[in-house]
Amino acid sequence: MEVYGLKVCNVEKPLGFAMEKPVFSWKLMNTAGDVTHAAMTIRTGDEVVYESGKVEDANSLGWEIDLPLAPKTRYDCTLELWSNKRERRLERTWFETGKRDEPWVGKWISPQTSQVSALLRKRFTAQASEAPVRLYLCGLGVYEAYINGKKVGKEYLAPGYHSYDFHLAAQTYDVTDLLVDGENELVIALGEGWFKGRLGFDGGYTNLYGNRLYAIAELYQDGKLLAATDETWEELASPVTFANIYDGEVFDQRIQPDVLGNVILAAPEGCGLLVDRVSLPIVARDRFPVKEVIHTPKGDTILDFGQNLTGWVEFSVDLPKDAQITLTAGEILQDGEFYHDNYRTAKAEFTYISDGTPQKDVRPHFTFYGFRYMKVDCPLPIRAEDFTAVHLRSAIVQTAKFTCGNPLVNRLFENALWGMKDNFLDVPTDCPQRDERLGWTGDAQAISAAACQALYMPAFYRKYLWDMRAEQSILGGSVPNVVPRIKRDMIGEFGSCPWADAGVIIPWNTWKYFGNQALLRETYPGMKAWVDCQRAHEESLGGLHLIKDGFHFADWLALDNPAPGPFGATDPLYISSAYYYRCAQIVAESAEILGLPEAPDYQTLADDILSAIRETYFNANGLCKIKTQTAAALAIVFGLTTDETSQGNELARLVAENKDHLNTGFVGTPILCEALSQTGHHETAVTVLLQEDFPGWLYSVKLGATTIWERWNSVMPDGHMNPEGMNSLNHYTYGSIASWMISWLCGVRPEEPGYKKIIIEPKPDPRLGFAKVEVETAMGRMISSWKYDKTGEVHYEITIPWGATATLLLPGEKPQTLGPCDHYF
Ligand code: BGC
Repeated sequence: MEVYGLKVCNVEKPLGFAMEKPVFSWKLMNTAGDVTHAAMTIRTGDEVVYESGKVEDANSLGWEIDLPLAPKTRYDCTLELWSNKRERRLERTWFETGKRDEPWVGKWISPQTSQVSALLRKRFTAQASEAPVRLYLCGLGVYEAYINGKKVGKEYLAPGYHSYDFHLAAQTYDVTDLLVDGENELVIALGEGWFKGRLGFDGGYTNLYGNRLYAIAELYQDGKLLAATDETWEELASPVTFANIYDGEVFDQRIQPDVLGNVILAAPEGCGLLVDRVSLPIVARDRFPVKEVIHTPKGDTILDFGQNLTGWVEFSVDLPKDAQITLTAGEILQDGEFYHDNYRTAKAEFTYISDGTPQKDVRPHFTFYGFRYMKVDCPLPIRAEDFTAVHLRSAIVQTAKFTCGNPLVNRLFENALWGMKDNFLDVPTDCPQRDERLGWTGDAQAISAAACQALYMPAFYRKYLWDMRAEQSILGGSVPNVVPRIKRDMIGEFGSCPWADAGVIIPWNTWKYFGNQALLRETYPGMKAWVDCQRAHEESLGGLHLIKDGFHFADWLALDNPAPGPFGATDPLYISSAYYYRCAQIVAESAEILGLPEAPDYQTLADDILSAIRETYFNANGLCKIKTQTAAALAIVFGLTTDETSQGNELARLVAENKDHLNTGFVGTPILCEALSQTGHHETAVTVLLQEDFPGWLYSVKLGATTIWERWNSVMPDGHMNPEGMNSLNHYTYGSIASWMISWLCGVRPEEPGYKKIIIEPKPDPRLGFAKVEVETAMGRMISSWKYDKTGEVHYEITIPWGATATLLLPGEKPQTLGPCDHYF
């Protein structure tokens, strides 16, 4: 028996993460029998602070331990497992708390001279030793810390982007290795970031959450305070003379870190309390060398990194003093020339000014870019090998791999993954490049099922939903269009379907795919609040349990509306009532799972909404009266129709009428193929998938896309960008097809949350030859694949995770129950 993936609150060895109680999860491999018993022992130092004893009901998807936690404390944990085949296994891990509710000794400080970027410094004496040294820190807008010139931690853009007006997150770092004997120096470099730099489209706003830079820090060695922020800290001149998220950064190497004076004591105003971090760190992942240096007819030099990615470029330079090099980000070339118009007002540049010395690893600090290309303006010739693109994202791990016999479909799956990786940078953003990069809830909701199937999402969503609940708390439970919410008038709106439904759909998907009940309990109040908010509103309009008003993005960017503009043809009030039903149903189920008394009340509400929807939007035969692909797909997938077969036939007819092409937007696209496969029209679903012309998924792949586009025709067949102002080449919503590839084409679906029980219903199609998915599920590794041989017979290979069971549904055969390990059919 082997144990792996042991996590505490969805994070491996969490240091300084906010948690009420530790919740353990783990996976098994190579067990001979079934695990029958578990025991958890937790120590601080030599003292045992918790012992569960041998218990029978330890849940590997989330075992919550009733242990009150102290601040700044390391907990060493030993998990012991026994199986009914006399196996026994010990697995160790640790977690360490941050400051929790311990009052801070450090004081908030702020630079006096610059509110653009500053270096704040403290010198102190210490003795290097093996005793643990911890730095507790928050810097606003964004910060990097250095001890004796070495960067603290491996994360960037800390503390990330959260709803600062409700809470401020502090990080904890292990800096034991950075101290030296004698004099030491701690420097906190600050930039404006999301907190006070320009944010929001149409020019946006500055100083949104605060109008100064701030920092607070405490440094301890073996529990003894070495340094803390106070008025004795110095402000030094920063080489960063300009930086914000959209426009980029100017780094002037000529600027010496001269002392400008002391800091002042000043605390952020109008912000929330300082608490332990919830966010995953933003880290550097893949690195891309230059694929090609392009010299354009107009005389520009452009680096092509071959992949549209989020991050920045690192490089080496050797330029004369005062000479400068500027990189400008682009996603696509137009007629062989650099193109930047779809960034709108975001300059997305990095300028480095030389002091005459050669430098390595030059990079920005307080910004990031969405790009495939970088235009280089430099007075001297450049060498490709001096430049590397670095992909930044929240520390989320990919869990699914998909391949089939069609290389374009394989690239589509990769593009879907990149769409997600590039847009999971602390916040699930709409896009990483233009003057937006905001946590649009509709986009986040639409991709959440695919994300949970292809990436390990719980910790990332926990943070997003933490912000969301905070925002809901002053909106009567409603969910805003963007989270964190931009204050003031812009994007102040809330309650739009299906943007606001993110408040229910995202926590539910997280539950469905990871099965962590403690997380469901934590997120439940936000789910309930959104349904309650809708209920109060619709009842105030006279009841009937339908949504009757409000602004709804609905099937955003669908192609079925003859009227020009971004809105789809499907009646937004039908869509919003359908989502209201779905959300009420989910809240009822969640309440039931959590053992809450209100479960029947929400079930009644859901039933009433369903009756009202059927009465209003469905004919006597149980078919939806709205004749769009999206309306029919919703009727099937949300269970609104009373005649699924006929509704499926109708959907297939609507697709056929549109020459076997989709015309769906943000609502219909994530569910269209599922609705077809579910109702016996899998062949049509595959046909829609395989269309290589507009509108279809492979259209962008054929045109060389390496990510998912915002519009079905973001790029026109002649390679020119669609002139629409809102046009990014890195928007993830249509990448939601990855979910169907896993759960219908390969047929892997959790029957019980966290894949404890699995449905495997592979749906082969000869046009693809074979398809295979490998998923590292919450229960462990699973594989589902099918392949046609030369005689046209289909072979299946299936691997079930240890500890899980599956029901296999093969075409034309009786259901079979499968246990762990490998199966061939
Ligand atoms: C964003 C979207 C978002 C939409 C809603 C756009 O600018 O990029 O993806 O959901 O606005 O209006």
